[in-house]
Amino acid sequence: MSHGVKPHHIGLLTSGGDSPGMNAAIRAVVRCAHVQGLKVTGFLGGYDGLVNGRSRPLGPRDVSNIIQRGGTMLRTARSAAFFTEEGRAKAASVLGELGVEALVVIGGNGTFTGADILHREHGVRSVGLPGTIDNDLKGTDRSIGYDTAINTAVEAIDRIRDTASSHDRLFFVEVMGRDSGAIALDCAVAAGAEFVLVPEREEHIDQLIEAIKGSDGAKASSIVVVAEGETEGGAFRIADMVKDRLPNKDIRVTVIGHVQRGGSPTVQDRVLSSRLGVAAVDALVRGEHSCMMGMIGGQVTSTPFAEAIQGHRELDRDLFRVLRILAT
Ligand code: F6P
Repeated sequence: MSHGVKPHHIGLLTSGGDSPGMNAAIRAVVRCAHVQGLKVTGFLGGYDGLVNGRSRPLGPRDVSNIIQRGGTMLRTARSAAFFTEEGRAKAASVLGELGVEALVVIGGNGTFTGADILHREHGVRSVGLPGTIDNDLKGTDRSIGYDTAINTAVEAIDRIRDTASSHDRLFFVEVMGRDSGAIALDCAVAAGAEFVLVPEREEHIDQLIEAIKGSDGAKASSIVVVAEGETEGGAFRIADMVKDRLPNKDIRVTVIGHVQRGGSPTVQDRVLSSRLGVAAVDALVRGEHSCMMGMIGGQVTSTPFAEAIQGHRELDRDLFRVLRILAT
């Protein structure tokens, strides 16, 4: 992490895909800033709000009754304008006009990349909070929203299991995760799935067929969890490939989709967001910046943006083995 002077006025935004717990993090940042005597301005619609100067002052009462709400009261976007030099120059001048000296940015990889460039080009200091359901960021065991998303997805898969076993069917269930199989792997283990397909690991179709055949006759249903970013092209494509090889199988596909991104955050996500929101303000007060706050092994940690944005968090390889053993 880098050091600078303590700011007196901070900006706050959520960017990229929303995730349950972002509101709890906003609340924590605003209230901790108030306690520390800092002014807070919230920017609306992610980096677009920064570029276009759409903002509102935020005090402790403005964030009442949001800890339990999904989504983000500040709205979010995947801003194209901010990823141009001109857009960032506009953002820096908006910050200058408002007297905002540093930012707390809540989002994922793209969000921190943007903050890092803004610092290099215009000296704007930022601290990041990991807000993404994908749990693909280095520097934290869990990102804000992940726990809620996997619980939502597992609840959906449990329901699918009920109908799958009544009909002796094979289901391919696609969960979110453009570049990461974290949601898929945890959900597969938690829902007792027979197989999982993730972007991090190329499984041969033969292995999948073997796994399905292995449970044939012995089990009333089979569930294969497919991560959205899986390399063969998603659940529908995999299902077609399997149907070609096993024409007698009764196959269905369910894509859970954005249901996973909504809903009231779990206790775990609310507590994580609250702790990290406070930690982000504390870090800025200490003069730290260009880092993401996270939790590793129950401890609040700080990881430089440069490290947090490099590649993706690795999957726990042992979970594949656990899944294989328990699917017998
Ligand atoms: O980054 C979170 C995420 O939900 C990914 O898992 C998914 O691929 C993507 O966002 C979907 O983005 P959008 O809502 O913009 O379609």
